[in-house]
Amino acid sequence: MIQESIIRNPALAPEGHRKIDWVAQYSPVLNTISTNQLADGALRGRKIAMTIHLEAKTAYLALLLSEAGADVTVAGSNPLSTQDDVCAALVERGVRVFATHDPTDEEFERYLQGTIETGPELIIDDGAELVGLLVEVRPDLIGNVVGASEETTTGILKLKAMEAEGVLPFPVLAANDARMKHLFDNRYGTGHSSLVALLANTNLFISGKAVVVMGFGWVGRGLAKYADGLGARVVVCEPDPVKLLEAYAEGYEVMNSMQAAEIGDVFLTGTGNLKVLGRAHLERMKDGVLLANAGHYDHEFDLDALREIAASSREVRKNVTEFELPDGRRLHVLARGRLVNIAAGDGHPVEIMDLTFAVQALAAHHLAKYASTMRPGLYTIPAEIDELVARAKLASLGVEPERLTEEQIRYQKSWRWESGQQEQKAEG
Ligand SMILES: NC(=O)c1ccc[n+]([C@@H]2O[C@H](COP(=O)([O-])OP(=O)(O)OC[C@H]3O[C@@H](n4cnc5c(N)ncnc54)[C@H](O)[C@@H]3O)[C@@H](O)[C@H]2O)c1
Repeated sequence: MIQESIIRNPALAPEGHRKIDWVAQYSPVLNTISTNQLADGALRGRKIAMTIHLEAKTAYLALLLSEAGADVTVAGSNPLSTQDDVCAALVERGVRVFATHDPTDEEFERYLQGTIETGPELIIDDGAELVGLLVEVRPDLIGNVVGASEETTTGILKLKAMEAEGVLPFPVLAANDARMKHLFDNRYGTGHSSLVALLANTNLFISGKAVVVMGFGWVGRGLAKYADGLGARVVVCEPDPVKLLEAYAEGYEVMNSMQAAEIGDVFLTGTGNLKVLGRAHLERMKDGVLLANAGHYDHEFDLDALREIAASSREVRKNVTEFELPDGRRLHVLARGRLVNIAAGDGHPVEIMDLTFAVQALAAHHLAKYASTMRPGLYTIPAEIDELVARAKLASLGVEPERLTEEQIRYQKSWRWESGQQEQKAEG
């Protein structure tokens, strides 16, 4: 028997409805796709399990899938990002929810387990949590699943490892790797919302501060861009020499992390790696520094080492923990090291998630139609999905991309040597 929803408080629903309705108003792409693609019946009666940061934008995706006829169950993907009012509203609108804000570790695991115990055919995953759980803990439930899609970089890395070991049991679409996802969501969405969360939670001024960005991937590029836009002195640390040079060419300071540890006022991590700020970095930092993480897990700074070297710790503001070192220096960790933009803020801007979740909705739709013909493995999102999402967004802005003439298309495809071409080149 499928369990009923587990949420904190059904009475919170009215505020949750208001949040979801706000998102709906600013989601032109999802609204277009809902009318044009999702309504074709492909999702009718399909069981979908989702785990993504459970706030209003995710809720809107779940609702549209449910309106397309799917039987949708949602769990939060991070203990601090779940919003209880949104969960209550979702349940009122017919979606099964297993999520509460700040659950115990046991509760969090029980919610994920409950989600896969519904026997989903399609999975929308974040960090490969549900896929990992199915393969490692509940292989008996794998048989129902026809396919999955994955939201984030960290999940893709895990899925690649599973594929290499030959244990990935069904086709998975790498939604994160769609151009309409990572170019916008990881870069602009995370950069924008992480800086917003940092400022809102500290009420401090960022101009002139040395902001150290750890990692210059998609997330790091966004963090650096928005810190720069706010007038910070941006310092980048990155192991890939090409990316580090790219940061240099963007006009940022580049140095190794031990040097940066000594001069930074703010540290922003977005690497997907662990202990990128370890004990030796933490011991060097100045009094009053801020540490915020935008990577998937809360292990980008070594919090265990920080607890060990600190003489004391206390909450100094909502979402800010102060660790005082024996010599009196104070290091401030935001959102307990969890993704600052989501655990201590409202997450990505609505318009960004409109693009990301349009990719996810179309990924689910594609899997519902074609997964039975696909072999197990990790797949890129079909290019048509990227294009459809981009065109729908441009249409909402009243803009059309350039149309190439037949002559231009022929020219781009031609390779034959022609007499006189060299002269034209020289003149041009
Ligand atoms: N907060 C959010 O809302 C959000 C959104 C998207 C992605 N993410 C997460 O952010 C993380 C990064 O994602 P991405 O798409 O930028 O990945 P990416 O692979 O594009 O970039 C990660 C970068 O970190 C660098 N790196 C690795 N170890 C490092 C170290 N020790 N020091 C400095 N740099 C190091 C890598 O070389 C790489 O350039 C992932 O965990 C991803 O899941 C978070």
